[in-house]
Amino acid sequence: MAKNLSKQASGCFLFCSLLISFVTFSSALSDAEVSFIARRQLSSLKENEDLPDNLENEINIKETFANERLKRAYIALQAWKKAIYSDPFNTTANWVGPDVCSYNGVFCEEALDDPKLSVVAGVDLNHGDIAGYLPVELGLLTDVALFHINSNRFCGIIPKSMSRLTLMYEFDISNNRFVGSFPLLVLEWPSVKYIDIRFNDFEGPLPPQIFEKDLDALFLNNNRFSSIIPDTLGKSKVSVVSFAHNKFIGCIPKTIGNMVNTLNEIVFLGNNFTGCFPQEIGLLGNVTVFDASHNEFIGVLPKTFSGLKSLETMDIAYNKLIGYVPETICKLPNLANFTFSDNYFNGEAQACMPSTKGKVVLDDFNNCLPGRPKQKSTKQCFPVVTRPVDCSKNCGRWWPHQKW
Ligand SMILES: *[C@@H]1O[C@H](CO)[C@@H](O)[C@H](O)[C@H]1NC(C)=O
Ligand SMILES: *[C@@H]1O[C@H](CO)[C@@H](O)[C@H](O)[C@H]1NC(C)=O
Ligand SMILES: *[C@@H]1O[C@H](CO)[C@@H](O)[C@H](O)[C@H]1NC(C)=O
Ligand SMILES: *[C@@H]1O[C@H](CO)[C@@H](O)[C@H](O)[C@H]1NC(C)=O
Repeated sequence: MAKNLSKQASGCFLFCSLLISFVTFSSALSDAEVSFIARRQLSSLKENEDLPDNLENEINIKETFANERLKRAYIALQAWKKAIYSDPFNTTANWVGPDVCSYNGVFCEEALDDPKLSVVAGVDLNHGDIAGYLPVELGLLTDVALFHINSNRFCGIIPKSMSRLTLMYEFDISNNRFVGSFPLLVLEWPSVKYIDIRFNDFEGPLPPQIFEKDLDALFLNNNRFSSIIPDTLGKSKVSVVSFAHNKFIGCIPKTIGNMVNTLNEIVFLGNNFTGCFPQEIGLLGNVTVFDASHNEFIGVLPKTFSGLKSLETMDIAYNKLIGYVPETICKLPNLANFTFSDNYFNGEAQACMPSTKGKVVLDDFNNCLPGRPKQKSTKQCFPVVTRPVDCSKNCGRWWPHQKW
């Protein structure tokens, strides 16, 4: 683990150094300042392992504060300001002096455990375009329940010290430049409901425990995750989950059926998922959006899909699906858009044929459908449509001798 961290750290260092040299052009930092910032960051990344327990007492601060928690917030926010290399909208320009509640993007509320105390309960720097990193001192913001820094240029890793923010409810760090493995510290937040880490560079596997948290939404899309989806998926109470545009592999776990009471939208788009769709997907009577397009799914559509009573949008394009597209799907009561183009289907119900009259948008382009326009050639279709896939075994993966 430690080895991994240092590898990521040096990667970030390189990235941030490039960033700094870029910043140098515009704001003319001296070489000495650049090397100071770079050193500051490196040492901070080493500190990521822990936050000294009595930091606030060790630091000598002249200002006086309404309470100790605001003093700790001041230390955290000043450290953060020092870890910022570029702030084009001057968002943090007023992060000066002891009145942290007046800082741009910082929100104070009564403390949950003591209404007489005003504390920093939220940080919102969304769309700040700020470049920098998250210093270990952020672990001092222990009253923060909302942490929104989406659409900035923060890099590096999420400091472990942030596991101390045990009131965290909404955590949105999307659209930044964070790296490293899945930030495990989020598992330590007891009441977190919303986790959005999409559009970063996180990599490696997902911890199975993430689906055991009582989350309402989980956005993992547009990273570099490369594992299977663990069977714990079925324990998740999320209404929305997106795995899109990663490098996930393997089958959709059968446990997905257990998400029946809570799941509304699930997006597998743009990975390397394979195998047949499990029958259990058909149990998901509250799902409105199901997107499994641009993967390597095989086999036939399970008959159970007729159980997707709330389905509005289904996209299964760009897979290797075969067989018949049944009326029971195309006539689902709320269906508005069903895209099954770019597969190897060789039959479809009348109700599934695109028509200008129907209220459902349908797309059957580039399949193996006899008599339909713009289909694959016989030569492309024949070897696939004549090869049965046993979806009851091995989640329908082909036997090794069955080369594509
Ligand atoms: C930010 O502050 C700098 C220096 O005071 C100023 O030149 C720049 O115009 C400010 N930018 C914005 C977006 O206000
Ligand atoms: C899927 O796997 C293939 C072959 O291993 C690879 O070339 C491709 O880039 C992968 N696609 C994604 C989205 O990871
Ligand atoms: C769908 O949601 C409702 C509550 O909105 C719930 O009562 C029901 O059990 C859910 N499941 C299915 C399969 O409809
Ligand atoms: C239907 O869904 C497809 C695929 O998700 C999308 O590209 C298309 O724009 C949608 N069409 C309409 C009319 O919403």
